[in-house]
Amino acid sequence: MPHWLITGGAGFIGSNFIRLALAREPEVRITNFDLLTYAGRPETIADLAGEPRYRFLRGDVCDAGAAGAALRWEGSAADAVVHFAAESHVDRSIADGEAFVRTNVQGTQTLLQAARRAGVGRFLQVSTDEVYGSLGREGRFREDSPLAPNSPYAASKAAAELMVRAAVETYGLAAVVTRGSNTYGPFQFPEKLIPLAITHADTGREIPLYGSGDNVRTWIHVDDHCGGILAALRRGRPGAIYNLGGGEETSNRELLERLLAAMGKPSRLIRPVADRPGHDFRYALDCGRARAELGWTPAVRLADGLARTVDWYRGHAAWVASACDREYEAYRERQYPSLASQPAETTAP
Ligand code: NAD
Ligand code: DAU
Repeated sequence: MPHWLITGGAGFIGSNFIRLALAREPEVRITNFDLLTYAGRPETIADLAGEPRYRFLRGDVCDAGAAGAALRWEGSAADAVVHFAAESHVDRSIADGEAFVRTNVQGTQTLLQAARRAGVGRFLQVSTDEVYGSLGREGRFREDSPLAPNSPYAASKAAAELMVRAAVETYGLAAVVTRGSNTYGPFQFPEKLIPLAITHADTGREIPLYGSGDNVRTWIHVDDHCGGILAALRRGRPGAIYNLGGGEETSNRELLERLLAAMGKPSRLIRPVADRPGHDFRYALDCGRARAELGWTPAVRLADGLARTVDWYRGHAAWVASACDREYEAYRERQYPSLASQPAETTAP
């Protein structure tokens, strides 16, 4: 039975990918290898525990011994690696980039080396549109657009991609890279814009909007992103890069207004705050290659995806409460010092 090693499978996209792969690939066994940082939560993967084609191993992708052990199941090496594990939050990388270089760059190199030594046949690097840097109002990034990352997070992901490229060129590793756009859906840690807005609005807190709010993102539902990663794993050309972007460009202000309207909440909860340093203005991807070569195209419309995501967060209060722990509260106070610490609707008018 084929065995896939999934790193970072207790996080947002990785956990959604594991569920999709177990459902769509009945012949595949999956090892989920994850350090369980603040973003990787046991309750995110609790439902997978009894699944016979699945095992969880806690470990660090920077630990060569642990990574090598995770690649083996009953004596045989993994057939494929899908590498999600990363420090993923841009704001945290601006505050301190050390962990990003360690996990995203060193960790990718360690895993590549372990995969090569074990003779793994396929390696998929989950990367991001942020490696391209920022666009003006026009144009879209293609896979051959230059790398111009602007945040420490984006730079660490671009560096990781270059280690993958080196493994392809030097050792002939059959690796594929996907560059996904801003993703949303179930199990996303509440620090990211959409779950931050939902959880703040439902507790009467203000929602911090950086700068002018005119920055543009193309949001993709996690089901579509995971479908693209699975297609690239199955059908991607070794050495190729595939953009996986959502279809609807939206400014951050418009996104929050639509989300609050869908939630039945007032737009006065939006609170402009100081801009993110080096804030990329616009991301947009040309996904023609993924469409032509993988037969992939995103299917979830933003309005439907947002409504489903609101329902999911409202229906998973225990998960939200566990994620919003004291460590997260301390992070929020550091990140948003200008926001009232009390719920907005109980402060003076
Ligand atoms: P996430 O922060 O929700 O999850 C990351 C996971 O990696 C967590 O489970 C964490 O415990 C694990 N991890 C962190 N350091 C580790 C280490 N040293 N060893 C083993 N595990 C470790 O991230 P996400 O949003 O699910 O993103 C997953 C991947 O997709 C990342 O590589 C990210 O760069 C990429 N990506 C994310 C988005 C997005 O919008 N979220 C878009 C494009 C690409
Ligand atoms: O584009 C892909 C990337 O999307 C991934 O590679 C990253 O892992 C993922 O975190 C995400 O990065 P962003 O920085 O774009 O996501 P975030 O949700 O943090 O921010 C989305 C936009 O919203 C961005 O323009 C900044 C803005 N924002 C964000 C936060 C947290 C705000 O205005 N206020 C906020 O409080």
